[in-house]
Amino acid sequence: MTHIHSFIARRQQLAAQIQSGIVIVPTAPERLRNRDAHYPYRFDSYFYYLTGFREPEAILVLIAATEQAPSRHILFCREKDKEREIWDGFRYGPEAAKEAFGFDEAYSLARLDELLGNLLANQSAVHTLFGQDSDWDRRIVGWINRVREQSRAGVVAPSEIHDCRVWLDEMRLIKNTEELQIMQRAADISVQAHQRAMQMVSPGMREYEIEAELLYTFCRHGAQAPAYTSIVAGGANACVLHYVQNNAVLKSGDLLLIDAGCELDGYASDITRTFPVNGTFSAAQRDVYQLVLAAQAAAIEQVKPGNLWNDPHQAALQVLAQGFVDLGLCRGSVDGVLESGDYKRFYMHRTGHWLGMDVHDAGEYKLKGEWRSFQPGMVLTVEPGCYISPAEDVPQHFWNIGIRIEDDALVTPTGHELLTQAAPKTIAEIEEIMQ
Ligand code: GLY
Ligand code: MN
Ligand code: MN
Repeated sequence: MTHIHSFIARRQQLAAQIQSGIVIVPTAPERLRNRDAHYPYRFDSYFYYLTGFREPEAILVLIAATEQAPSRHILFCREKDKEREIWDGFRYGPEAAKEAFGFDEAYSLARLDELLGNLLANQSAVHTLFGQDSDWDRRIVGWINRVREQSRAGVVAPSEIHDCRVWLDEMRLIKNTEELQIMQRAADISVQAHQRAMQMVSPGMREYEIEAELLYTFCRHGAQAPAYTSIVAGGANACVLHYVQNNAVLKSGDLLLIDAGCELDGYASDITRTFPVNGTFSAAQRDVYQLVLAAQAAAIEQVKPGNLWNDPHQAALQVLAQGFVDLGLCRGSVDGVLESGDYKRFYMHRTGHWLGMDVHDAGEYKLKGEWRSFQPGMVLTVEPGCYISPAEDVPQHFWNIGIRIEDDALVTPTGHELLTQAAPKTIAEIEEIMQ
């Protein structure tokens, strides 16, 4: 659990960085799935990062300190409502939320239009999640225009709108100890889910039966949701990168690729393991698996402070291109395969992404046109793969093999640490747990 002081400290840091003006950050809306049934509610990551508040219909207003006044941390949220709470459960209401979440002031959301005029008056700039949602952008402009209407009374309206994600993305990129503890617990739960999948699978089952084991494990350990739709892909389905139908029969002799991770207290985990449905790798599967495993090891080796974001990808590509030539999948020299991009027939995605509150987390990959360097506290995935669709010039014993191996790596002062280390990964480890 993140301590309330951490959320306050983040607001203070943001207020200090913008120097002047007002921050307005809404949480995510509830969304209808069909008729009057909603999708399970998930707060906005930026809003939660700054507040720790999980209810829908809430807005953070943060005013930077001036020489005359200290900063103001304000929450707008739903009012207490005994009637609604009988149907939907507890809600804080402004008074209790103010205390529990460390705000200076809190008001009913119903008073937003009434109070925002005063809050915006004479502020130089509005900092918000600008460009994320056009309805929200319009509301921001509407509020500013209403302040502008008072110009003859001497009120000055904000003349600038800034996207505060510029600041927040950089803050979110470096995880603190509390965040890392949550991410480790999320990773531990996902590791257990993958272990259970390996133990439960047998030929003849449907992919969704294994998906059910994953969800069962996430849920029974307190994870609130999968961090993304689980990919449970047997045989050729593994070559469809975003396969989520998860309804095919699992056949002896095929591999099963599972890309699944839970979300715990707002933080994602993201693991892929690939293993044989019948518990034993065939010779061709072994060859490709060892190649992807070697590519992943080479990539992980590159995760250390000072190295560049692209270094793991380049290391993985080098190993994969050599392997593709050795296995007869690509022809010509390794350099030629890398230069022409011929490897993309079998490896068409990049080797990882930032991981945090969002599975593809906030944070730039380049700064001023150059790959950024790793710093302690960053968390990323390392996930090379190889996907071999049938083709005349591809040896037939490799057809429909799809393999990805994905771990979550924390950059440490001396190198890296894998949050997902405990998930069986070598052929020996996998064949043993599947016994
Ligand atoms: N599970 C999403 C990804 O690996 O990027
Ligand atoms: Mn990933
Ligand atoms: Mn993944």
